Amino acid sequence: MQASEQIATIKRKLGQRLLILGHYYQRDKVLQHADAVGDSLELARRAAREQDAERIVFCGVHFMAESADILTDPRQQVYMPDMAAGCPMADMAPLRELRKAWEELQSISGDWLPVIYVNSSAAAKAFCGAHGGCTCTSSNASQVMQWVFEQGKRVLFLPDEHLARNTAHDLGLDDTLIATFDPGRPMGGLTEAALSQARVLAWKGYCHVHAFTVEQIQEARRRYPDAHIIVHPETPAPVLRLADAHGSTSQIIKYVEAAQDGSTIVIGTEFNLVSRLGRTHRDRLNIVPLRVSVCPNMALTNESKLMRTLQDWPENNLIRVDETHRTDARKALARMLQLA
Ligand code: 13P
Ligand code: SF4
Repeated sequence: MQASEQIATIKRKLGQRLLILGHYYQRDKVLQHADAVGDSLELARRAAREQDAERIVFCGVHFMAESADILTDPRQQVYMPDMAAGCPMADMAPLRELRKAWEELQSISGDWLPVIYVNSSAAAKAFCGAHGGCTCTSSNASQVMQWVFEQGKRVLFLPDEHLARNTAHDLGLDDTLIATFDPGRPMGGLTEAALSQARVLAWKGYCHVHAFTVEQIQEARRRYPDAHIIVHPETPAPVLRLADAHGSTSQIIKYVEAAQDGSTIVIGTEFNLVSRLGRTHRDRLNIVPLRVSVCPNMALTNESKLMRTLQDWPENNLIRVDETHRTDARKALARMLQLA
């Protein structure tokens, strides 16, 4: 029997007791088996309201499966088809660096709140929850940052410098009020004057998949003069500002769905999503990747690994969030789900 038939057979047998979640960056062969496909926010929401499934298989990257585990009941078990599917950006904010940065900031002023992109470890999320902060995704970063400002506080945003800068800019903050915090240097490499002026500190992390360049935008404009260009907000700010629009994964999908027939749209995000949009809308739109950029971590999951997980339920593929982090990490995630 082929992998796809075997998966279908197991799914039929387990019915509601099994839930397969798939991120948009997964390949189609995997997503055809998913009970829910979404961006990181939609999948976190789906996990949080899931009651029936005893086993959840997360086809995405590690931080997403950890969030699902934190948001579900302890009797529900979360598995990943490949545990090596991490996220390099999430690794750019280790707990010890976050603690050190926080202590340094507290020595200057007590009006900071942590905002932690869900692309982070459970330990970082727990730190955030324990210090009154909130997680965010690229879909709701503006609402979460706004929530901090409404409390008269300032934002320590991690780990993505570009999402921090782009979000603060969208909220009307002048660039002089946003400072890059380099965790490898004392006080983030900032002077006391720069720290007291900043309203947003943007941790110096990034995603290599979204490291698009000004030259790539210029080349796209030259080749497709009438095209609309949209990029993901993990794109560096000087590049993003040359695009016509920016948005999270689901916002990019909506942008494409609303586009006029006959348009050309150049998209700067992960290639599996871009090529799927191209196939879905091939009769009415010309969809072009800004650059072919595959997330190698997302690509670790494939149909045969999914099948093996469903057949054997290997202990090694079970997500186990450290109990010491669970409660506080849940606070930070729950705050986000309530807010936006
Ligand atoms: P979304 O929050 O848009 O799903 O993106 C997740 C991600 O990892 C982007 O690189
Ligand atoms: Fe992480 Fe970038 Fe892959 Fe998203 S695309 S999972 S941020 S490496």
